[in-house]
Amino acid sequence: MIPESFIQELLNRVDIVEVIDKSVPLKKAGTNYSACCPFHNEKSPSFTVSPTKQFYHCFGCGAHGSALSFLMEYNGLSFVEAIHDLARQIGMIVPQEQRDPNLPPATSKAVLLSLQETLQQAANYYKAELKKSPRAIEYLKARGLSGQVAAKFQVGYAPAGWQNLQSVFPQYEAEALETAGLVVQNEQGRRYDRFRDRIMFPIHNQKGEVIGFGGRVINPEDSPKYYNSPETPVFQKGHELYGLFMARRAIRDAGRVLVVEGYMDVVALAQYGIEYAVAALGTATTPFHIAKLMRQTDEIVFSFDGDKAGRTAAWRAVMNALPAIKDGLKLRFLFLPAEHDPDSFVREFGKEAFEAEMEKAMPLSQYIIQHLSEQNPLASQEDKVQFLNDAEPILKQIQAPRYAMLLRKKVAEMTGLAGGEVQRMLKLPDPAKIKQKVVRQRSRTPSSLFVRLALMLLMRPQWAKPELGAAIVDESDEAHMLRIVIRAALAKPESRPVVLLQMIAPYISEALQQQLQRELSLLDESLDFTLEFEGACTQLSDMALMAREKSLLGRLTEKPFSTLSDAEREALRQLTSKR
Ligand code: UTP
Ligand code: MN
Repeated sequence: MIPESFIQELLNRVDIVEVIDKSVPLKKAGTNYSACCPFHNEKSPSFTVSPTKQFYHCFGCGAHGSALSFLMEYNGLSFVEAIHDLARQIGMIVPQEQRDPNLPPATSKAVLLSLQETLQQAANYYKAELKKSPRAIEYLKARGLSGQVAAKFQVGYAPAGWQNLQSVFPQYEAEALETAGLVVQNEQGRRYDRFRDRIMFPIHNQKGEVIGFGGRVINPEDSPKYYNSPETPVFQKGHELYGLFMARRAIRDAGRVLVVEGYMDVVALAQYGIEYAVAALGTATTPFHIAKLMRQTDEIVFSFDGDKAGRTAAWRAVMNALPAIKDGLKLRFLFLPAEHDPDSFVREFGKEAFEAEMEKAMPLSQYIIQHLSEQNPLASQEDKVQFLNDAEPILKQIQAPRYAMLLRKKVAEMTGLAGGEVQRMLKLPDPAKIKQKVVRQRSRTPSSLFVRLALMLLMRPQWAKPELGAAIVDESDEAHMLRIVIRAALAKPESRPVVLLQMIAPYISEALQQQLQRELSLLDESLDFTLEFEGACTQLSDMALMAREKSLLGRLTEKPFSTLSDAEREALRQLTSKR
């Protein structure tokens, strides 16, 4: 877990304009900056970025958020990845304690930069070497690749020989070469190139930076067939997918992504016009992969070889996907004939045939049922109990209510039990009770006094006073929200609006958060709202006084006798005379 205080500091220091401008060039427009929205198609700019609020907002499609959410939405990063990315951009180091064990160790900005540069230089070198090697070119041609596709994937060639990289990096002893996984040192302290006489496939992160390589032998006697970069501070296999950067646009256009097993599958599919394929890097698909892909699309088709290894990999992918599945996600499994992989299939039968196969791919629920019943004839009562026992851990991992319901129904059908019986036998939570995600509301309701005050305090936290909180007598959600905003403002009066929003998020409903974000984006920051604020404060204390008067009046007329003390009577007299 990254401490909340760090995220706040990060958001207080970062400049959203700078962050967004790197991907979407911004133009100054008044106090704000604007551009054509990167999240929908438009001809005139309705996307604005506010340097004071540290927010972006699109008046066309409603997209909005902080520098963090921009990195998540635009670059498809996870929350944690976005934090690391932001921290790197401004040279902050993500605190090391209580670290998520799945994250790379924090490395300083300078080291990361030099790693990145080193890898990019190596990629350029390998690419140039490919042009000089008729043998490597011949190999790629024989595998049906055009120069265009090879260029798109920046395919290269690492020549034979032990220290070729010395020609690019005169400082062959440099630490960065080893950290980047380009150079290996043996026990005698001798250094040599990791990749020799191999076709080189650079691996890119989602920003298009080279973070590693996969190298394939040309000589069929050499082994291993593929050799990959080791894990480095910029490259973790379980997080990255080969080809994702190149495929991003095609994934959006096609509305789906195809996950295959090998580098050559991705490249060959692209050669044949299927440009939305990615590959895991010699590891099983991880939950990170699934989550990453789900941020790009809601249809994932896995393609696996038809052999036993392919089936094992497919089942492992299912197990990893289960906790990440959301309703609305389409997950399907394509099993090619045993003698084929996507590369050979598309080369033999072409794009249409391959896409026709994809249409026939098996939906997740069907695949699960098929897998469970493969070795279970479901003939006896024992078989059925066994079947339920096998299904149980799977059903319990699915958080998506509709998916869970569907699968439960299928399990019930297979065993001849009613859905409710399955549920009771397995003691599963009632799907109707699993919390549904709050639907994003886009309508503009006029702000209540509480919301207006909250907005002004988010903009000017230094205006918050403890008395203000005491004056809130209302018990509505909005009043509660205002109390929380006041507390956050009192605690961190120097914070930017975006940070305060972050602080209060855990304590208020999703719907109110959405409303605050939206209205804050719309708020004209060039306005001086001193007067409005004073007015609202007066209104608030009037409300408190009226409530007090009402309660005192109630007790004054209480039967059989009034319970008001003399002091209270006096207070009541003053309250009524004031009005
Ligand atoms: P395959 O053995 O299925 O190879 O490995 P392939 O993709 O069909 O390759 P070609 O067509 O012979 O060129 C699939 C993936 O497993 C990883 C690589 O990521 C490869 O793309 N792998 C395979 C390794 O990491 N090392 C190996 O030695 C072999
Ligand atoms: Mn292959």
